[in-house]
Amino acid sequence: MRKNIVAGNWKMNNDLAQTESLLTDLKKQTQTSIAEVMIAPAFTNLYPAFQALKSTNIEVIAQNMHFAENGAYTGEVSGSMLKSVGIETVILGHSERREYFNETDEILAKKVDAALAKGMRVVFCFGEVLEDRKSNNQEKIVENQIKNALFHLGPAAFQNIILAYEPVWAIGTGETASPEQAQDMHAFIRKTLATKYGADIAEEVSILYGGSVKPANAEEIFSKPDVDGGLIGGASLNADDFFAIVNAF
Ligand code: 13P
Repeated sequence: MRKNIVAGNWKMNNDLAQTESLLTDLKKQTQTSIAEVMIAPAFTNLYPAFQALKSTNIEVIAQNMHFAENGAYTGEVSGSMLKSVGIETVILGHSERREYFNETDEILAKKVDAALAKGMRVVFCFGEVLEDRKSNNQEKIVENQIKNALFHLGPAAFQNIILAYEPVWAIGTGETASPEQAQDMHAFIRKTLATKYGADIAEEVSILYGGSVKPANAEEIFSKPDVDGGLIGGASLNADDFFAIVNAF
C-alpha cells in the first residue's frame, strides 16, 4: 500500500541557531499518525539536522542537487555529497527552482536520473501557474511536466519516486486548492501514470499536495482518496503547526 508522507520544505529559512532550536522543538512532538515525516533544511544545516534526528523517525532530506557527480560547477552540491552526510532523499523540480533558477524539464530529467542512480528517493514537484488554471490548461501542463522529466524511466524507478503536486498559485499565498481541486488533479496524475506504467504501479506511488497547507485545512485535504500527504512550506517552520499537519491523517 502506498505511504502517507508529510514533508516540510524549509526553503531558504533558518540559520544554524534557528535550525537547532526548531530541531529541539520537533523532537518534543508526539506523532499519533502513521505518516512518514521528512524535513528539508538548507544545505548548510543538513548534517547537523541529520545528526540531531537520527534516533527519531523524522528523515532529513535535501531541497535540490546537481546532476553531475563532481567537478567544475561552482556553488553546486552533488548526490554523493548529500549521501556522505546521511541524506537519502531529495526534492527536485520545485516551482521556485524552475522559476528563479531556470530549471527545465530536461535538466530535471538529468537530476532525477542522477539521484536514482545513487539509490536516492526523489520528491518530484510540478504544478501549473495561475494563468494555466484560469485557461483550464492545468492538466496538459502537469501531464507534460511529468512526461518530460519522468517517462523515460522504467517502472521499477517508481519505487523511489514520490510525486508532489504544487499549484504555483497556491504556494505561499494563503490560497489553497480546494480539496476537490486537489483530488481531481491527483486522480488525473494517477491516471496518467496508469496509462504509461499500468494501474499497479500507479496505485503504489504516493502523491503529495503542496500549497498553503495549514493545521486548519490539512485534515480535509488529506481525507481525499488520491491525496497521500503534503509538502509543507510556511507551516513547517513551526513545530506545533507542522505536527498538527503530520497528525491530521
Ligand atoms: P507553502 O506551504 O508556504 O504554501 O509552500 C508550499 C511549498 O512550496 C512546499 O514546497
